[in-house]
Amino acid sequence: MQTIHTIPPLRQRIAHWRQQGEQIALVATMGNLHRGHLALIEAARGVADRVVATVFVNPLQFGAGEDLARYPRTLAEDQRLLIAAGCDLLFAPDAAQIYPHGTPQTVVEVPLLANTLCGLNRPGHFRGVATVVLKLFNMVQPDVAVFGEKDFQQLQIIRCLVDDLNLPLKVIGMATVREDDGLAMSSRNGFLNAAERQLAPALYRTLQGVAAAVAAGASDWAALEVTACNTLQQAGFVVDYVALRRVATLQPPTAGEDAEIVLAAARLGTTRLIDNLIFAR
Ligand code: PAF
Repeated sequence: MQTIHTIPPLRQRIAHWRQQGEQIALVATMGNLHRGHLALIEAARGVADRVVATVFVNPLQFGAGEDLARYPRTLAEDQRLLIAAGCDLLFAPDAAQIYPHGTPQTVVEVPLLANTLCGLNRPGHFRGVATVVLKLFNMVQPDVAVFGEKDFQQLQIIRCLVDDLNLPLKVIGMATVREDDGLAMSSRNGFLNAAERQLAPALYRTLQGVAAAVAAGASDWAALEVTACNTLQQAGFVVDYVALRRVATLQPPTAGEDAEIVLAAARLGTTRLIDNLIFAR
């Protein structure tokens, strides 16, 4: 696996594969790879001839006071894991490659999907995500891009921007990979101390409780949200939100509609965890 840090050789390599008629899949990451990322690489290998992974800790998607500085950077270990996973190329640019003029003038906004849920707690976050993802799409020009469902709001925003901007690629969402105790895999899990790590699986257990109540016929969505919030608070979390929503729009169900997904964000100490559970597919 070749590691490339700048855009011209990346474009050359991709052009060469295209000339051979090969299909290209992209797995965009911020590094510090875990089994969740490796499942994305494996899925990408199944749908394309070549897999390009990117590792870039994107400053544009971190707000003031967020964890940009402490976000783990583990490129050598990431390279080792990507080689073992059968990735063909790693693009690991620095910020000057991606943002040569500093903060970009041209940004991507997907307001209806972004100005809710995590977007309320992290203003500007999804503008940063959508902008860097479009830039990575332009650089790699993949046929397919694979993203995890753990970041479900991000996934829906990327699907929307691909659709709205007529990008010639297919977006695939992959099921969340979990630890044995149910905790969704995330690079941020490494920030949890031992006591917080013990508490963390309560997030997914609480979402499962909501799903079980819905399966048993509960349909007072607001009451379910309040109960789940209380459960998380009692377990030691500071809750940003628990929300029952529609999958396509991420908006609350209107009268007569059923909720289709429960999403939550909650903090243990200085670590913010997110998770979600779709009720029926
Ligand atoms: O999910 C992530 O790791 C990031 O938000 C992404 C999609 C790589 C954009 O920086």
